[in-house]
Amino acid sequence: MITKETIDRIFDVARVEEVVGDFVQLKKRGVNYLGLCPFHNEKTPSFNVNPVRNIYKCFGCGKGGNAVNFIMEHEHYTYPEALRYLATKYSIEIEESVPDPKQIILQDERESLYVLNTFAQKFFTENLFDNEDGRAIGLSYFKERGFTEDTVRKFQLGYSSEKWAAFSEAALENGYKSEFLLKTGLSFAKKEEEDSENKTPKLLDRFRGRVMFPIHNLSGRIIGFGGRILRKDEKAAKYVNSPESEIYQKSKSLYGIYNAKKAIVQRDNCYLVEGYTDVISLHQSSIENVVASSGTSLTTEQIRLIGRFTKNVTVLYDGDAAGIKASLRGIDLILEEGLNVRVVLFPDGDDPDSYSRKHGSSELVDFIQKNEKDFIVFKTDLLLKDAANDPLKKAGLIRDIVDTIAKIPDSITRSVYLKQCSEMMDVGEQILIAEMNKMRRSQVNKTAPINDIEELLPETILKNIQVDDEISIERNEEEIIRLLLNFGPEEIIFHEESDDPDEPTGKKLSIHNIRVSQFIVDEIVNDGISFENKNFQFILQEFSKITTENQIIDPQLFCNSENPDVSSISVGLLSPRYLLSENWLQMHKIFVPEEPSLLKEAVEKAIYYLKKKKVMKMLEENRKKILEAQTNGDDFTELLTDHMRLEELKIEIAKNNLKIDILK
Ligand code: CTP
Ligand code: MN
Repeated sequence: MITKETIDRIFDVARVEEVVGDFVQLKKRGVNYLGLCPFHNEKTPSFNVNPVRNIYKCFGCGKGGNAVNFIMEHEHYTYPEALRYLATKYSIEIEESVPDPKQIILQDERESLYVLNTFAQKFFTENLFDNEDGRAIGLSYFKERGFTEDTVRKFQLGYSSEKWAAFSEAALENGYKSEFLLKTGLSFAKKEEEDSENKTPKLLDRFRGRVMFPIHNLSGRIIGFGGRILRKDEKAAKYVNSPESEIYQKSKSLYGIYNAKKAIVQRDNCYLVEGYTDVISLHQSSIENVVASSGTSLTTEQIRLIGRFTKNVTVLYDGDAAGIKASLRGIDLILEEGLNVRVVLFPDGDDPDSYSRKHGSSELVDFIQKNEKDFIVFKTDLLLKDAANDPLKKAGLIRDIVDTIAKIPDSITRSVYLKQCSEMMDVGEQILIAEMNKMRRSQVNKTAPINDIEELLPETILKNIQVDDEISIERNEEEIIRLLLNFGPEEIIFHEESDDPDEPTGKKLSIHNIRVSQFIVDEIVNDGISFENKNFQFILQEFSKITTENQIIDPQLFCNSENPDVSSISVGLLSPRYLLSENWLQMHKIFVPEEPSLLKEAVEKAIYYLKKKKVMKMLEENRKKILEAQTNGDDFTELLTDHMRLEELKIEIAKNNLKIDILK
C-alpha cells in the first residue's frame, strides 16, 4: 500500500499539463491548453487542460479528470500503477505502509482461491489428456466439435470425471483446505445424516462428467469454471458454472478477455458473443479479439471492461427471437457508455460456432464482414419489417430509434445519427432533434456529461434550465452539488422583515449574508434529507462537516479523490464550460459578481424542486400503500394521517418558495 503522504506528494507535484503533454500536443489558449482528445476521434480540438484547477476535460466525449485519472485512462493502468508511473516521472520516492491485518487475510484468501483454481485446471486438463475416460469421452468430444489440440491447450480446457468426488479427494490429498474448496464452489458439502457420527462434512464435486472451460480474469488467473454436459439430457443443465466468490463476479467478468485483450487493442475493435464455444471457434478462425458475456445479459461493468481497450464493439447475435430482443437492450447499454456499436445477426438457429462448423472458418469470417451493420441500420431494418405500411407503428419505431440515439453521450455523434435516421425514415431532422431533446431532458441519465452545446450559453451557467419538474431527483441532487462545488464560499443576501414598533412602518427590514454552502447544508442536511446518489451524498456530507466549523472547502479535494466516481463527477461539474472561448470567459467575469441575485435564485430553486420532488415521491409511495391496505382489508388510518401530514408539507414548501419569490 502506497502511503497517504506519498499519494499527497504525487498530487502536489504532478502538473496535469505536463502529464498530458507527454501524450497529447497542447497549445496554449488563454490560461488553458487545448489539444486533440486522445480518447475519441476528432479533427477540431476540444480537449481542454486547466492548469489552475489541475484537471483536464474533453468537451467532445466528456472524459475528464486529474493527472492520475489521465494516466489510468490512457495507459489502462490501475490506481496504484498510475501513481507509480507519476512517481517515476517526478522522481518521488514511494513509501509503502504495511497493510492492515484484515487486508492481509483477505489478500491471502483470494490468493488461496486462485491457487486452488489453478490446481483444479491442471487436474481437469490432465484428466482430459492422460486419463482413459478423459481421452475417450472428453477429448473425443472436443475433436468432434473441431477443436484442435492447440486450441484445447490454449484455453486450458479439461474434463471432470463422473465419480462423485474425484476432484475433491485429490485436492484434499494435496493439502488444499476444504474451506477453499467450498469457497471456490469446486466442491459442496454433502448433507449430513441425522445420526451420522462423522462430524467433518463430506465433500462432493460440483463438476462431474463434463468438459471444463476455465474462466480467466484480465491478468490470466483462473476465477471460475463452466462445465458442459456431454450427453443430451433434458433434465440436467447444459452448463454448470462456478458460483460467485471473492474472486469471481459474473457481472464483472468476460469470458476470453485475457486471450483477447492484445488483439482488441491492435484491431481497435471487440467482438462480443454469447458462449464459451463461440469465443473458441472464432479464435480458430483467426479472430482473436472476441469475448463472451456467457449467456447472462450484458452489464455496464462488462462494457466498461471492453471500453478500457477499445471504443468499438461488434455484437454477434443468434438469429432467434430471444437473441434479437437481447441485442436491442445490449445496444442501448453499450451506447450509453459512449462506445460505438455494430451488429451481426446470424441466421436463425446458428451461433458463430455452429456456423463455422457448418460452413468453415473462412466463410465465417466472410459472413461477419459482409453482415456487419451499424446499429442504426440494424435497428431500422429490423423494426421496419414490423411496421411496414402502418404509419402509427412507424411513428413508434422512429421514437424508439431516437430514444436509442439519445443515449449516446457525445453530442456530435448524436447529431450524425439523427441525420442518418432522418434520411432513412424520411422525417425532418428538426422534428427528430426536438423529440430527442425532450427525451434527453426526461432521461434519468447519470452518465451523460453536461457538455451539450446548447448548455454552453452564459445565461445557463447559474440557472440550470433543466431544474424543473420533469427531471429526476438525481439530476436535481447533481445541480445542488454543482452549486456547492462552484459557488460554495460565495455569499448570498437575504432580506428579512420582522415586526418592530419603533419603526415608522411597524416593520424592520434586516439584511443578512450567508454562504451558499451554509445555506445548502442548513436546508438539506439539517432538514434530514439525504441524497439518493451515494457519490453526491458523500460530497454533501464533506461540505456539511466543514461548514459547521465555518471553514471553506477546496473543491480540488474532490477532483483528487481516490474514488474515481467522486473525482469524475467533481471534475465534470467544475469544468468551466464557459471557458471554452475567451469571449465566454469575459462574459463570465462580468456575469457572476454583477448578478448575485441569479446565484441566490439558482440555489433556492434547486432546493425547492428537490424538496418538492421528495415530498411528491413520498406521497406517491404512501398512496400505493393505502391502495394495498384497502385491497387487503387492512387498517389504514395511520397511512391516512401520513398522507395529511405530507400534503401539509407540500403546501408548506410551496408557500416557502412563494415568500422567497415575493421578497425578491
Ligand atoms: N449458459 C449457461 N448455462 C446454461 C446455458 C448456457 O451458463 N444452462 C451460458 C454458457 O456460458 C454458454 C452461453 O450461455 O456458453 C451460451 O449458451 P448456448 O448458446 O446454449 O451454449 P453454447 O456455448 O453455444 O454451447 P454449445 O454450442 O455447445 O451448445
Ligand atoms: Mn453453440
